[in-house]
Amino acid sequence: MDDAVIRKIKKVVAGNFDKSFDHYQTFEEKHHFFADLTLRLAAACGLNKGCRVLDIGCGNGASAEILSRELECRVVGLDLSPKMIADGCRRIKDPRIRLEVGDAVNPQAILTQDENNFDAALYNASIFIIPDADKSLKAVAACLETGASIGFSFYPQILNREGTDLFALAFDRCDLPRPRTQVVTSYEKALKGLQACCSKVSESVWERPFSQEFLNDFFSIPAQSASLFPRLQYEERCQLITKLFAALTEDAATAKIVWRLAAGII
Ligand SMILES: C[S@@+](CC[C@H](N)C(=O)[O-])C[C@H]1O[C@@H](n2cnc3c(N)ncnc32)[C@H](O)[C@@H]1O
Repeated sequence: MDDAVIRKIKKVVAGNFDKSFDHYQTFEEKHHFFADLTLRLAAACGLNKGCRVLDIGCGNGASAEILSRELECRVVGLDLSPKMIADGCRRIKDPRIRLEVGDAVNPQAILTQDENNFDAALYNASIFIIPDADKSLKAVAACLETGASIGFSFYPQILNREGTDLFALAFDRCDLPRPRTQVVTSYEKALKGLQACCSKVSESVWERPFSQEFLNDFFSIPAQSASLFPRLQYEERCQLITKLFAALTEDAATAKIVWRLAAGII
C-alpha cells in the first residue's frame, strides 16, 4: 500500500472514530464487550498482575480501564482519534492510566525516555483498521522487554455450525452489495506480522452466541457501520444494519459470533 493511500485511510479512520465516542461509550456501558474482550486477550497473552502495558488503538480507554481495575496494570494507551482520547481523559481518573493521541506506527513519539520496557502490547479490536500493521508491530516490539508479549483480537466473524460466513449470506439475502473488504488489514496479514516479531505465536477464539441486538448495537457505532456500508450516510447505514441481521433470524439458534485472538512472545 503506498504512503498516500495509508495517509488517506488513517484520516478516514480518525474521522470515523471522532464521530463515535459517545455511541462507543453507550454501547460499552450496555454490553461491557470491549472490557470482556480485553480480559480474554490479556489471558491469551499471559499478562501478570501489575504489569506494564502498551495499549495500541486504545480508543476512549475501555481496554486500559479494565486492565487497571482487574489486573492492576499500568497502561499507556495511544489512539489516532483525538476525540476518543479526549473522552477517555475526561472520564478516567486513574493514576495507572495515561492516554495519548498517536499513530500505531510511532509509539515512541508519545513515550517518555524511560518508557521502553513494557511487559506487553495489546491491539484490542484495532489491528484490522491499521493499514501498516506490520510496521506498527515492529515499532511496538522495540518498546517491549525481552520476553514480553504482543497480542491482538480481530474483527468478528459470524458463522453457522458448518463454518459458513453468515455476513456474506445476509448481504445476499438482502440483495445488498457486499463491502469489498470489511477490514483494512486481513487476519492472515496481521498474523504474519505478529509471527515476524514473535516466537510461540498461539491462536484462539472467543465464541459468543448469535445476538441480533448485540450486532445491531455493535455495528451502529458509526465507525463500525462504515465497515459494512462505507459509502452511505449514517442514518441509511443504521436502517440497513437492522435489515442485514434480521435476515439471519432463521440461523440465530445455531450461529455464533467468533472473535479470533493471536498472541506471541518477543
Ligand atoms: C474498535 S476501537 C478499540 C478501542 C479499545 N482498544 C477498546 O478495546 O475499547 C479501535 C481503535 O483503534 C484506533 N486506531 C485505528 N487505527 C489506528 C492507528 N493507526 N493508530 C492508533 N490508533 C488507531 C481507532 O481510532 C479506534 O479508537
